[in-house]
Amino acid sequence: LPAAAETVYVRAGQLLDVESGRLLPDRALLIEDGRIVRVDAAAALPAPAGARVHDLAGHTVLPGLSDAHVHLFTDADVHGYRRLGISLPQATLTGAKNARLTLEAGFTTVRVPGAPGYADVALREAIARGDAVGPRVLAAGIAIGITGGHCGDNNLLPYEYRHSGEGVADGPWAVRQKVRQNVKFGADFIKTCSTGGVLSRGTEVGAPQYSLEELTALVEEAHSHGRKVTSHAHGATGIRNAILAGVDSIEHASFIDDEGIRLARQRGTVLVFDIYNTEYILGEGEKAGILPESLEKERRVGATQRENFRKAHAAGATLGFGTDAGVYPHGQNARQFSRMVRFGMTPIEAIRAATVVNARLFGLDGQIGQLKPGFHADLIAVAGDPLADVTVLEDVRFVMKGGEVYKDAR
Ligand code: ARG
Repeated sequence: LPAAAETVYVRAGQLLDVESGRLLPDRALLIEDGRIVRVDAAAALPAPAGARVHDLAGHTVLPGLSDAHVHLFTDADVHGYRRLGISLPQATLTGAKNARLTLEAGFTTVRVPGAPGYADVALREAIARGDAVGPRVLAAGIAIGITGGHCGDNNLLPYEYRHSGEGVADGPWAVRQKVRQNVKFGADFIKTCSTGGVLSRGTEVGAPQYSLEELTALVEEAHSHGRKVTSHAHGATGIRNAILAGVDSIEHASFIDDEGIRLARQRGTVLVFDIYNTEYILGEGEKAGILPESLEKERRVGATQRENFRKAHAAGATLGFGTDAGVYPHGQNARQFSRMVRFGMTPIEAIRAATVVNARLFGLDGQIGQLKPGFHADLIAVAGDPLADVTVLEDVRFVMKGGEVYKDAR
């Protein structure tokens, strides 16, 4: 949406400063053209004449949340073979619906790690123009993977259909070509897969995909275009290969070992553990069409991933916030906060993962994730105190993005 060319004034009952972790009572924010220009005690910053005023007294205001791993173009009740019946135009419309749901849940920025036919780029542009309603979108374009791999390819059809996924690339030059293609068609970052996965047919979830040589070429090419790289990786070898190749983040990180944690810390690689996901897959997955072999893999992954989340956090690794929403229903992204707290984080650490840590990972430092002058006016309000009970984030009452109000359910 074009930034509102006007002055907006927000009064906060209390404001959460995510950096210090302090709740500041009676604050006011002044917003111009979609950006924050001043934040102060309400007594020191009265509403200017003519400003559009939003009085959020009795509410806690915090920066808009972000999710590093959202599949906007898929729905949680369409898994396995059901997906084959979804056309690209259908998936794109589904993406527009899910973008709105995600924004209304308080997520003002999302990273979409792979989408068919550059639907993510199209949606990003539609939202920016105001043709669709949704969060700020970072698009990966087409996810890049090996023949028969977890991403890039699709292993549901037998050989006689001769189907090969649009993101298949084998060998260093082939992966470089795919990176270049993604850059050409508007990708903000690059998504690859360096191990098998749970939801792909016929891949071994712990087994590495791509050689170190291929991953190194992919990362070097992406970085040379100023694009960050994230790698889906469950198994320890594939995690290490990706970190050594220089990726900026790891998705899932389920079977990460001590060496992987050490390397991630040393290289500053952000780990994005989607630890809510397992509850939906094991609870609702069968009804949703998830294949029996995937349910079997999930039973090996879920609990271990949560223990390794605890371990990586305790060891001081940098953890981002990413949920894999789309595997489970969109708009429920915030359910992961309480699981992050259950497995070792304090509420403010979990909130930082979804604000300042993700902002840095997205290359949007200074733009999103904090309520300070110069930042986008992306903010949300909740009724309770998220530091006392992080589940209040599951019930976001007010959403502003770029100074525009998208939800007011107070
Ligand atoms: N998209 C991921 C995959 O197919 C989902 C993994 C979900 N499981 C989990 N415990 N996080 O591999």
